[in-house]
Amino acid sequence: MNEMAKYRLQVEEAVTFLQTRLTNQPEIILVLGTGLGALADHLDHPQTIAYEDIPHFPRSTVASHAGNLIFGQLGGKQVAALQGRFHYYEGYSAKELTFPVRVLSLLGAETMLVSNAAGGLNPAHAAGSLMVIRDHINLIPDNPLRGENIDAWGVRFPDLSATYDQELIAQTLACADKLGITKMESGIYVAIPGPSLETPAETRYLRQIGADAVGMSTVPEVIVAKHAGLKVLGISVVSNVNDPDNQQPILLEEIIAQTEQTAAQLVRLILELFKEL
Ligand code: HPA
Repeated sequence: MNEMAKYRLQVEEAVTFLQTRLTNQPEIILVLGTGLGALADHLDHPQTIAYEDIPHFPRSTVASHAGNLIFGQLGGKQVAALQGRFHYYEGYSAKELTFPVRVLSLLGAETMLVSNAAGGLNPAHAAGSLMVIRDHINLIPDNPLRGENIDAWGVRFPDLSATYDQELIAQTLACADKLGITKMESGIYVAIPGPSLETPAETRYLRQIGADAVGMSTVPEVIVAKHAGLKVLGISVVSNVNDPDNQQPILLEEIIAQTEQTAAQLVRLILELFKEL
């Protein structure tokens, strides 16, 4: 069997496994990034399934990421929350790390909301702000759609001219306004392979190519979601702002501490947004 036929079979086995355990089909996928797993505590009627119990699901190797798929309701919507995500730097290919998003899209989800922790590149943004993603730049040297295309899943050359849903962006910004969240930005997210952080020269380069924030995730998942025809919303927690002319060490402990501090705001924002979806 070729690689793609094998992958397809694995996806289909995971879909079948989940279908036998779910009473409702998910409408919205929530991808919870670094420090943001707490959002899952807000789901009504949660049903938790460990990644390791789902056939062919990848395993989280990062301590700051749990490994649970949690089904439940939020604002009356059926939600599937990925508590703990996978990264290219862990050694997964883009196709492997997007396995959960492909599975959930085939279970019927129509929208994906993805969050991450990111480093700020725009000097006008402050640490602890939230940034709605307007567009992205992919610098991860892999694409989840590389290889044979499965036409039943999506087209060979998916259009990414309007990747992030304009209406969801506008609703998010309006909700932030309503909640009095002042450190609310919007901008371009660039995905780097990691795990090493940026040199000052790389920070300067990433800013010059048009990015406002940098991280090591999100873009592969977004590509699969668009291939599958989902509406996408992305929000970054800007955990640190990198100034290439005065570069400070970027420490994981600080990233996680700042993200957790800001996560409460992101949770409020998402709960408000769900009232309007
Ligand atoms: N760079 C890359 N990824 C990150 C950063 C950063 O500064 N902060 C949080 N995730």
